[in-house]
Amino acid sequence: MQQKINETISFLKHKISINPLVGIILGTGLNDLATEVENKIEILYEDIPGFVRSTAPSHQGKLIAGTISGMPILMLQGRFHFYEGYTMEQVTYPIRVFKKLGIKYLFVTNAAGSLNPTMRPGNLVLLNDHINMMGTNPLIGKNLDEYGERFPSMNEPYDNELQSIACSFAETQNIDMQQGVYCAVTGPSLETKAECKLFASLGADLVGMSTVPEVIVAVHSGLKVLAISVVTNLSNIFHDQAHSQEEIRDNAKIASNNLINIIKHIINELKLKEN
Ligand code: HPA
Repeated sequence: MQQKINETISFLKHKISINPLVGIILGTGLNDLATEVENKIEILYEDIPGFVRSTAPSHQGKLIAGTISGMPILMLQGRFHFYEGYTMEQVTYPIRVFKKLGIKYLFVTNAAGSLNPTMRPGNLVLLNDHINMMGTNPLIGKNLDEYGERFPSMNEPYDNELQSIACSFAETQNIDMQQGVYCAVTGPSLETKAECKLFASLGADLVGMSTVPEVIVAVHSGLKVLAISVVTNLSNIFHDQAHSQEEIRDNAKIASNNLINIIKHIINELKLKEN
C-alpha cells in the first residue's frame, strides 16, 4: 500500500503546486462548495494512480486543488462508498493521500437521514460523535505505523476547537445547526423502521452510508476532523413514504449555502491561526 501511495503522491505533486492544509470531502448534492475554489486544478479520479472511480449518484469523481479565501485546500468532489463494492482500504485511500500531502484538517460533509424529529430536512447537523454500524473497520489488518498507532483513541474523533468555531459562527448568523450523533450503515438498502428505532434508541440522531470510515482513518493519522451532515430526509419512523434520490438532492441544495458560509468562516479562522 505504501508504494501505491508514493506513486499517487508523486503524480499529484507534479500536477499541484500548492501545499494544502485543509482537505474537504463533498457529500451528495453538496457540489456548490466546489464553485468557491479559486486557482482551481481539477483531476479526474480515473487519471489518478491508486484512486478508484466513484459510481454513486451525483458524485462527480474529481480531485480539486486550489484555494478558498487564500487557504490552500484539496477537495474530493465525490467519495467512495463501501456499498459500491470497494474495500475499506479503497474507500479511505484519499485520506492517507491527504495526510502524506501535508493536510492537517479534514472537513467531511454528507447527506443523512434524520432519526430525531427536531432535525428536519434542509437542516445542518454538526457531528459530535458517531456509531459505527458498518460491521467492519477500515483499520483492520496490519497497522500502518507511519500514520498512527494500532489502537487509536476514538474518545473525541471530532475536533472540539473546530466544533466550537462552527457553532459560534452558526449562532451569530442565525443558522439552525444542532449537534448530533451519526450512525453509519453500509447501505445500499435503506433502513427498516425497526432498524431506525434501534439506532435512535442507541443515541443516534442521523443515519447515513459514509463518513465514519474516513473519520476513523483521519483520526488514526492525526488529522483534526470536522463533520457536518445535511439532513435530506426524515427516516421512515416518522412517515410511510419511501424517499427518493431527488428529495435527497433537493434538500441538500437548501442547506448548501449555509454550509458554504460555515466552511469559509472556519477556513478564515484557521488561516489566522496558521499564520
Ligand atoms: N439513510 C441512509 N443514508 C441516507 C439517508 C437515509 O435515510 N438519507 C441520505 N443518506
